[in-house]
Amino acid sequence: MAAALRDDLPEAGGPWAPTPPYSFVGGHNDGDSIPVAGLAEAAISALRREGPALASYNLGGSPQGYEPLRRFVCDKLGARASTPVDPDEVLITSGSLQALDLVNEAFLRPGDTVIVEQATYGGALTRLDRLGVSWVGVELDDDGIVPDDLDRVLTGLAADGVRPRFLYTIPTVQNPTGSVLPLERRRRILDLVRAHGVPVFEDDCYADLVWRGQRPPTLRSLDDGRGQVVYCGSFSKSIAPSLRVGYLVADPPVIRQLLAIKTDAGTGALEQLALADYAPTSFEHHVDQLMGSLQVKCAAMRAAVAAHFPDDVHVTDPAGGIYVWLTFPEGVDTSALVEPAAEAGIEFNPGAGWSADPQWGRRRLRLCFGHPDVATIEAGVARLGEVYRASIA
Ligand SMILES: Cc1ncc(COP(=O)(O)O)c(C=O)c1O
Repeated sequence: MAAALRDDLPEAGGPWAPTPPYSFVGGHNDGDSIPVAGLAEAAISALRREGPALASYNLGGSPQGYEPLRRFVCDKLGARASTPVDPDEVLITSGSLQALDLVNEAFLRPGDTVIVEQATYGGALTRLDRLGVSWVGVELDDDGIVPDDLDRVLTGLAADGVRPRFLYTIPTVQNPTGSVLPLERRRRILDLVRAHGVPVFEDDCYADLVWRGQRPPTLRSLDDGRGQVVYCGSFSKSIAPSLRVGYLVADPPVIRQLLAIKTDAGTGALEQLALADYAPTSFEHHVDQLMGSLQVKCAAMRAAVAAHFPDDVHVTDPAGGIYVWLTFPEGVDTSALVEPAAEAGIEFNPGAGWSADPQWGRRRLRLCFGHPDVATIEAGVARLGEVYRASIA
């Protein structure tokens, strides 16, 4: 059969390999931070109560997802992000990656252009690439998108007769830089995209994990009901990635259109039931605890980078989330470190795959501190520092 496969597929993955000792890739949490007892209790009680409904697809309810979970998403966005949402505007998805796929399918055709942040989520870029969609990067600083640069990009595209299909942005705990876009910039950015008639796809995957400063209102809420912002979020980073539960928020006509292409017969019910029972009483407390441990791990990782890398290597000071983003001097290519790092038992994400312009990203890399404990962070970053020093010696 292999010979009959399409010849334009992405490169096949290798066989599964166990996680190396120092794994700083991906968006994993650590096992100790999963609220196992609470989720187990919630799953059992929800299953006892709603079990017979498993006999029907979507538990016999709306294909938008289990209503108590949609209500929780609304309560959470209202309380934590000053974003009033109605359950009719929420579509539960199988992780927010499915939200990305649905939005891409609904808005993009091959040959289209979107605007992305100059450093952004690699999984979003690979998706655009597969769809034959090109992108233009917009500059970031410590506060996120630089509005003047967005203005420049929008004006330049308009001059070339290109209408970008949307701006894909991660404004709150940006991946990979960890910045939080301040309120005033949010307003300015909305003004700019509005002036050019460009919608926004707001990805708030990490937004429940802001530990410095206040979480600003979402772009969607600041859009004042104009319906120009499609929003997605996830329980992957706040609770557990393996649950595969995310959510989209959009105006009901858009939700109904997205439902027409969500042909999976419904997102898994058991994880929705468990979350809907667990979250209303326990989400806040759990996330507070999780952020406490993430902050400690972040500090350990930043200290280890400072101790084991030369002074000309810059590390971000994220306002939340699970990543730091390192910038090396001109001429360094972090992808050349992948192999020697792997030999030392370390994996990390080289910056090119997380950058609108891979050339710009070459001297950058991303480290995730969500999964390893402090001792592993200290030992792994020290080893990575040795690998880097050997490479420039
Ligand atoms: C910015 C961003 N969006 C979406 C996702 C997808 O997450 P999930 O499908 O687990 O919700 C990730 C995962 O790391 C991410 O970083």
